Amino acid sequence: MKEINIGILGCGTVGAGVSKLLLEKQALLESRIGARMRLKSVVDIDLETDRGVTFEPGVFTDDIHSVVNDPEVHIIVELIGGQGIAKDMILKAIQNGKHVITANKALLSEHGDELFQAAWEKGVDLYYEASVGGCMPVIKTIRESLVGNRIGSMIGILNGTCNYILTKITDEGSDFPAALAEAQAKGYAEAVPTLDVEGFDTAHKLAILNSLAYGMKINLNDIYIEGISGITPMDIEFAREFGYKIKLLAISKNNGDTVDARVHPTMIPFHNMLSNVNGSLNALTISGDSVDDIMLYGHGAGREPTASAVVSDITDIARNILSGARNRIPFLSCQWEHMKTIPVTPIDQIATNYYFRFSALDRPGVLSKIAGILGALNISIKSVHQKGRETQGPVPIVMLTHLAKEADVQTALKRISELDIVGDKPVLIRIEDESEDG
Ligand code: HSE
Repeated sequence: MKEINIGILGCGTVGAGVSKLLLEKQALLESRIGARMRLKSVVDIDLETDRGVTFEPGVFTDDIHSVVNDPEVHIIVELIGGQGIAKDMILKAIQNGKHVITANKALLSEHGDELFQAAWEKGVDLYYEASVGGCMPVIKTIRESLVGNRIGSMIGILNGTCNYILTKITDEGSDFPAALAEAQAKGYAEAVPTLDVEGFDTAHKLAILNSLAYGMKINLNDIYIEGISGITPMDIEFAREFGYKIKLLAISKNNGDTVDARVHPTMIPFHNMLSNVNGSLNALTISGDSVDDIMLYGHGAGREPTASAVVSDITDIARNILSGARNRIPFLSCQWEHMKTIPVTPIDQIATNYYFRFSALDRPGVLSKIAGILGALNISIKSVHQKGRETQGPVPIVMLTHLAKEADVQTALKRISELDIVGDKPVLIRIEDESEDG
């Protein structure tokens, strides 16, 4: 029986999960691949903590260089995270002619072009199924199953931590810190949870998806990013009254010469399937010109689901090695030399529907002042609710708009916030509702 030797860098949640899966399902994988997946080395700086995995003697080591330079290792699996040593070791492994697998979306979204270029030049594979959507086969679906499609849009929930927090607040009235602490305890959150909560993790994933779907050079910097830390139970409740749920969405739309790419809390109607994706679950709707819409749904974080995605990459590479194929499937959607620079639409140029919440004094003429500013900027109001009746303090006034331009909306909100009858900063939440007219 042939053997494929695997070296894993990093034995945290996912590294331990991959090790366990390879050891416990060795016979199953052998029967599916026709070769033995041998866990040759697992590296971590901490050799003491019990990961619930029993390694054969000599497998578990803190000497990363001995693994990356081991001539017997065919595949290096980078699960260290971060951008320092992880990047150096991937480049070293590539230089040594090894195929590489990584789940490191932060690294790929910032340095993917350099890493893919290096792998391309060396003729090795660099796979990354676990970097987006945990166990959901997002990368393969876009790159392989939908290869005959022009992708028109991708809209999804790509961060389990944020979805867990929003679900807990929506369904159970939990407070934000408690919900975040639970997500961390369950192993969903990044080492630095602001990456989750402020939308960066979702943006890292969206940058990878854009590149994959549209053949565009990776561009994280131009993605508009807004996290969920400003979302209040009050807005979640108003959203419900209007028939919407609030989700942190990754939104990508292909306009031909440009791409809309944004991450922000979004109101979506109850009939949108994404509104029923709860807890730590992720989902992605992909629209292709031959298939219309398809949707992937599953665990986007956690040990076993992420390990499952890594093992699918290991299997692909093992099959390539066994059949003598190299770079059989391009890293992204097209051949490396066809990758283009496609500009991302600046956020102030998008048009969508909006939810506003103003905190205003309950006096005659207040509404007309606000409506006057909106009207002057061509922002058409679809509905207005005023909540409560106060003779002293401000009351919340909530509005939904028809399709409006973001630049006009920002100007209007600035002018409205300068009115002396308006307290606090107005709240803006974008709406994604296909049934809306505009
Ligand atoms: N922190 C990420 C999440 C892990 O919460 O979805 C998976 O990328």
